[in-house]
Amino acid sequence: MLRKCLFPVAGYGTRFLPATKSMPKEMLPVVNKPLVQYGVEEAIEAGMTNCALVTGRGKRAIADHFDISYELEHQIAGSSKEPLLESIRDVIDQGIFTMVRQREMLGLGHAVLTGEPLIGPEPFGMVLSDDLCLNTGGPSVLAQMARLFDEFGCSIVAVQEVPDEEIHNYGVIAGKQLREGITRVERMVEKPSAAEAPSNLAIIGRYILTPDIFDVIRGTAPGASGEIQITDALQQQANTGGVIAYQFKGRRFDCGSVPGFVEATNHVYETIYRP
Ligand code: UTP
Repeated sequence: MLRKCLFPVAGYGTRFLPATKSMPKEMLPVVNKPLVQYGVEEAIEAGMTNCALVTGRGKRAIADHFDISYELEHQIAGSSKEPLLESIRDVIDQGIFTMVRQREMLGLGHAVLTGEPLIGPEPFGMVLSDDLCLNTGGPSVLAQMARLFDEFGCSIVAVQEVPDEEIHNYGVIAGKQLREGITRVERMVEKPSAAEAPSNLAIIGRYILTPDIFDVIRGTAPGASGEIQITDALQQQANTGGVIAYQFKGRRFDCGSVPGFVEATNHVYETIYRP
């Protein structure tokens, strides 16, 4: 049973400067809802009501978002605007939010390790909320992965096919296909060139991780950029057959990039907000 979900939200979000100079990237709204709230709603739908946020300096707006705002509540109580607060009230009612600060942004692997005291010795989900995943009318991507975890009981990474010209932005997997959309990972390469990439299946921001990942990260040396990469730690789990790659059902928008963010905004406006 997966109860906890980790949200590393400490990154600088440099691709969105100057918007992210004093505002967290994860608070950028896709139409009227911040990215991190989409992620938290997805985790809660998957049964992971315990949300562990790895934050950093300048990220207090995220913690405030998942707390009551007394003045605002008082001001709009009973007015026609009250329904606009419904979705966040639901999230606050259902979720438990814990936070820890990452003091130095030493990479995603380091952020995961920073979250260890909030997670403890149990398997957990992880959402990178700058990847917006939508599966309208079906189970969320994390819920699909939680179901798969019941079957395999090991780490799971969400993957999708990406075109050659974009592959160098991702961690890429190769392995043995077990059935359609499900591969036992043998090899992972972080940010390969199109020529070096072992496949076109790229890891996106949804994971289920078994807790041995913490010890593995602790023993992993910083990678090429000086950052501690999660991919290097996952490769070690994969060496003993402990990682499944899952081609999820639904759409994913790379909201960490401006074009992906605009695409997500148009999609949500046309298919969710306006109807
Ligand atoms: P990214 O590399 O996409 O985020 O990290 P970034 O560094 O904030 O963005 P750019 O490239 O400068 O525009 C993926 C996720 O990991 C988190 C980020 O917040 C993001 O959600 N992260 C990354 C951390 O929490 N800590 C880190 O040290 C690095």
